[in-house]
Amino acid sequence: MKSVFDRSTLAGISLQNRFIRSATHEAMGDEEGRPLKKLAQLYERLSRGGVGAIITGVLGIHVNGQGFPNMLMLDKDQYVEDYKKLLEPVKNLGTPVIAQLAHTGGKSHPSAVGKEVLGPSKKKYPPWNLVTKEMTVEEIEEVIDGFVQAVRRTKEAGFDGVQIHAAHGYLLSEFLSPHCNYRTDEWGGDTERRYRIIGEIMQAARQVVGSYPIMIKISSHDADKNGMTLSEAIKVARLFQESGGDAVEVSSGGINAFDMSRVEKIPVEAIFKLDPQFSQLHPLLKKILSTLLPLMVKKVTPIYNYNVEPAAQIKEQLDIPVIVVGGLRKLGDMEQIINEEKADYVSLCRPLIIEPTLIERFQSGKQDRSKCIDCSYCLLGVLSGPLRCYYGKLPCSSTD
Ligand SMILES: Cc1cc2nc3c(=O)[nH]c(=O)nc-3n(C[C@H](O)[C@H](O)[C@H](O)COP(=O)(O)O)c2cc1C
Ligand code: SF4
Repeated sequence: MKSVFDRSTLAGISLQNRFIRSATHEAMGDEEGRPLKKLAQLYERLSRGGVGAIITGVLGIHVNGQGFPNMLMLDKDQYVEDYKKLLEPVKNLGTPVIAQLAHTGGKSHPSAVGKEVLGPSKKKYPPWNLVTKEMTVEEIEEVIDGFVQAVRRTKEAGFDGVQIHAAHGYLLSEFLSPHCNYRTDEWGGDTERRYRIIGEIMQAARQVVGSYPIMIKISSHDADKNGMTLSEAIKVARLFQESGGDAVEVSSGGINAFDMSRVEKIPVEAIFKLDPQFSQLHPLLKKILSTLLPLMVKKVTPIYNYNVEPAAQIKEQLDIPVIVVGGLRKLGDMEQIINEEKADYVSLCRPLIIEPTLIERFQSGKQDRSKCIDCSYCLLGVLSGPLRCYYGKLPCSSTD
């Protein structure tokens, strides 16, 4: 009988169990995007807390895809030494670290990007109303090269593998989704052409790094009109395997952030307090918008285990390992997922924000479920400060 506590091998990487810390933007980069010391301390805590592997928060591959304040970057060779230092303590503890690479495309935050953001097609992106410029073929090739060089740098820095972020409405996911990609050239249209940008990254990256583990995170479905569907996601996962990919993490969500990190209720108060784009608004406008926002932002349900069945269906079609993320809170559910082989790994984000040592607590029998209350204030909090748990409470300030 398989257990979530079994030692395992993921794409050749040895793990002490089957728990993965899902990619979590920590907002712990300096102005240039180099990792700060507190990030190394967080990874050390997660490692001591018993997680099998850590996936970093997004590392940007190109300056025009550095879409969040204090986002880490890996777009320059000179940053490799900084990442070597970041990895030192956690490597000594024996926990593998996988670097997540991304270009944030049209889902960038206005406080972090210039006027022009890139996307497969011209489109206005909610909630911040940034408009993307349709990328030229030269710009697509530049982004492909950005990913490939960043994959090379992750290997040079000593990461155990890399994960390409093609989920949640960021640039590669925008190429995959017909909701964002209206192109009629060889980069849009059918699934193969929408996947092409990822296929080209894979082909070029393999030539540079050889048999180094390259994984992907995809959305199995989303709530966007004409967006990602499970049958599309299955095709994408198969194409990734054919491209020589090593593992697939199954998530969900496109344009709406509360589809990827689902919530008990739309966190209106936190949006107005923690998102710099909304916190500056006139109090009267805030009041009006507060009543409108819950009607404008769709609350997606269910909020627990919401990618397990899609992951199981994707796994049936693949030979490479499948990781599932999204609303996993109870140890019993996670044991069942692994035991019934619905996925090979379980991945947690918010449970490890509120309790970085949760896995150790599971293992020692101190706890059998996460204490996270699914408020997602942490998701808004990283727009104005480093990652932390708010537990549904807003910070006080002198202006309150
Ligand atoms: C604060 C925060 C930051 C996140 N940053 C990333 C990220 O950098 N890359 C990514 O793929 N997903 C990111 N996510 C999404 C999570 O990895 C995960 O897919 C989602 O929250 C659902 O898992 P959970 O229910 O365990 O939180 C983030 C989520 C939160 C709450
Ligand atoms: S702020 Fe804390 S309790 Fe709320 S979703 Fe994030 S981790 Fe969970």
